[in-house]
Order: sequence, then structure tokens, then C-alpha cells
Amino acid sequence: MGFSYQKQILHADSVAITELMQAYGSPLYVYSRTDIEHNWHKFDQAFGTHPHLVCYAVKANSNLAVLNVLAKIGAGFDIVSGGELERVLAAGGKADKCVFSGVAKTTTEITRALEVGVRCFNVESASELNRIEAVAKSVGKQAPISIRVNPNVDAKTHPYISTGLTENKFGVDKNEALDLYQIAQQSAHLSVQGLDCHIGSQITDVAPFLDALDKVLALLKQLKHQGINLTHLDLGGGIGINYDDEQTIDIQAYINAIISKVGDTEIILEPGRAIVGNAGIFATKVEFLKQNTGHAFAIVDGAMNDLLRPSFYNAYHQVLPINKATTGTQANWDLVGPICETGDFLAKNRPLSLSEGDYLALMSAGAYGFTMSSNYNTRPRVAEVMVSGTTHQIVRKRETVQDLFANESLFL
Ligand code: LLP
Repeated sequence: MGFSYQKQILHADSVAITELMQAYGSPLYVYSRTDIEHNWHKFDQAFGTHPHLVCYAVKANSNLAVLNVLAKIGAGFDIVSGGELERVLAAGGKADKCVFSGVAKTTTEITRALEVGVRCFNVESASELNRIEAVAKSVGKQAPISIRVNPNVDAKTHPYISTGLTENKFGVDKNEALDLYQIAQQSAHLSVQGLDCHIGSQITDVAPFLDALDKVLALLKQLKHQGINLTHLDLGGGIGINYDDEQTIDIQAYINAIISKVGDTEIILEPGRAIVGNAGIFATKVEFLKQNTGHAFAIVDGAMNDLLRPSFYNAYHQVLPINKATTGTQANWDLVGPICETGDFLAKNRPLSLSEGDYLALMSAGAYGFTMSSNYNTRPRVAEVMVSGTTHQIVRKRETVQDLFANESLFL
């Protein structure tokens, strides 16, 4: 199912996007429940009987409906804040299926995570290990931990989303990891569970993942010699998706390669984008067409505050007409928003035939779309809709302008 044309109209599952725009207004994020479930099952089933947990990375799309759909089919969750933990719990997810990543967990976050019983803390520094131990001691618990190792491999992705090089702030190097495991092993308030690594995002070649895996396995062996036996290996997320027509990773082949190397160690993965990226679109309306010398601009009602990826990473999202039957002015259009910044663009130089009032879809916007949106220029965040087969439902109301300054007050 997912997104396809039926009689010239783009549909989400069996629902015409034009119908959704009429019902819920523009701009709009639209998600296909069918696709989300399908994408998670693809990971889960690829492991067969090998012990595993597929923890969806909440940061990619944290809408409660998305989390609930995944919780219902048995997903675990990768969280990076107390806020994400509360979202997972509110959506019916289980704490004991949550791994808690992130470089700076606060005392409050650690306390809450221990209280609800998260599956594991992915620890990123000696100071953080100390803090987790101190909190666990103060509440009389044992904190389950993994150390996040930085394997120093080049994920060959955008520098902003590359995390596995020593120049990045994430994880600790191999020698420090060995020291931290010794410390953790001796603590009455820490329980050593696994080893964690995550090398970056939107990775489209399996080689860096397998390089990282080899390095991590060598470390696992070394730890075993020292009497430290880990029960799981968390290999992070980062599996790239198709935004254009790029080659990307064959999930089954990647998981087969993992299984062939790890013996019976349980594997945790933390895919975010690969679960929701292609399961969502951002739909927007052409307000004005404007031709400056040598440049054709389609000014749409969506902007960089709604979908930041193009202006932040120069990311490419395919642009499709929601109604293919419409005809208009053929040109190579730049899609720009109403925000007062030259960086406010959603796409550049796209051959399209456009008229004012047309609806357009920015494809593959389900991951890091809504979650990275803001209220810049006092623009209410847009509504989110979920579709399943022939049914559709608002899963986040469009914000009102009053919502935006409800927490503000005059200085009296
Ligand atoms: N685990 C950890 C520890 C992470 O830091 C991330 C993403 C993931 C899992 C999920 O990675 P994924 O499977 O989604 O690639 N805003 C950027 C992406 C930032 C990714 C940050 N970390 C974008 O729009 O491309």
C-alpha cells in the first residue's frame, strides 16, 4: 500500500490526498500505518529465530499514534530524552523494551528511567557512568548498562549525521570502554548488559556497518577474556532509505551478515528513518507562482519550519503533483516557503507543470519531518494525519496561533 497514484491522484493507502487536504487543510503530514508496520516487520522478520529486539528510534517521528502502532506490533524503542520516554509510555510502549541513548542524560531522566525500568542505558562517558551509578545507589536499584563505543569508521554520509568518527562527540574509544566495563563490573549498582554503537544516519552502503561490527566483536572478545560476558549487542540505527533513486541497503542481507558473525548474542537495532521515512509525506499548496529573471519560484504554504531537512542538510525530497491531471506552466521550479530567509526552500530546480492552487507532495518526509519542525515566524505547526486502508484520522491537531503564545506573559 503506502503512497501511489490511483487514477492520476496520489493516494495514501486507499485514500486520496486531495480528500485529506480538503478535510484537514494545508500543509499536512500524512502517514501510512500500513507502511510503518510493514517496515518494522521487515526488520523483525529478517532475524528469524535469532534473539533480537528492533527498537524504533523515536526521534525520527514521535507522534503518539506512530508509537502506538509500533508498540502494538511488539516494537522496542530507542529514546534519547525523558520526554521521549513519557511519549512511549503514553502510547502504550513498554519501558523494559526501551534503550536509553544520548550523551547527556540528566539526573531527573535517569531517576525516572530507573523507576519505570528501562531495558538498558547506553552510556556515553565516564562522567555519565558515574552519574547513573550515583542515581541508582540513591534509589536503591541496579542500573542496566551498555557502553557506547565509537568504532572510528567513516559512515560516508552527511557530516551532520555522521557519528562514528573520533572527531564526533558520541561514545568512547575502545580503551576507555575497556576501563569503563571494569568499573561497571565492580559496582553493586550497575549491571553490565551489552555493548552499543551507532555510526551515523542515512547510510546507504553496508560496508561501514560491517566494519563497525568487526571492531565491536573484537572488543567483545577482549571483554570475554577479562571475564566480562555481555548478553546483547546494540548496533544502532542509520540504515538509509530511498529519497531519489539511490542504491541503498538490503535489510535482509545486512541482518544475515550480522547473524553470521555474532554467534548467539542477542542483537538490538535502532532504526528510525528506515521505519517511518518512506511511510510519510508532507503535502503543501502552491500559493503563488513568480518568475524572476532566470528563476521560477513556486511559493508554497509549507516552509523550512515545517520541513527543515532541505535547508539544514541540503536534503533532497522528491516533489510529486498530488493531482497528475492538472496542467500549468512548465518550468524548473524552486519550491520556496513564506519565511523571510533565503534558506527557506523545500526543493530546487524541479521540472514541474504548475498552477497556483495546486497541491504538491514532498515524498519520504515521515522521518525527521514533523519532529524537527518549529514555530519560526510564529507559524503554527501543521496537522498530522494517519491513514490505514480506507480510513483516516487526525493524529495531531493543527496548532492555533493562540497555542503558540499561551505560555508567554507580559512583563508587569
Ligand atoms: N540511534 C541513535 C543513537 C541515533 O543517534 C540515531 C539517529 C538513531 C538511532 C536513528 O538513526 P536512523 O535509523 O533514523 O538513521 N535529522 C537527521 C538525522 C539525525 C539522526 C540522529 N540520530 C536527518 O534529518 O537526516
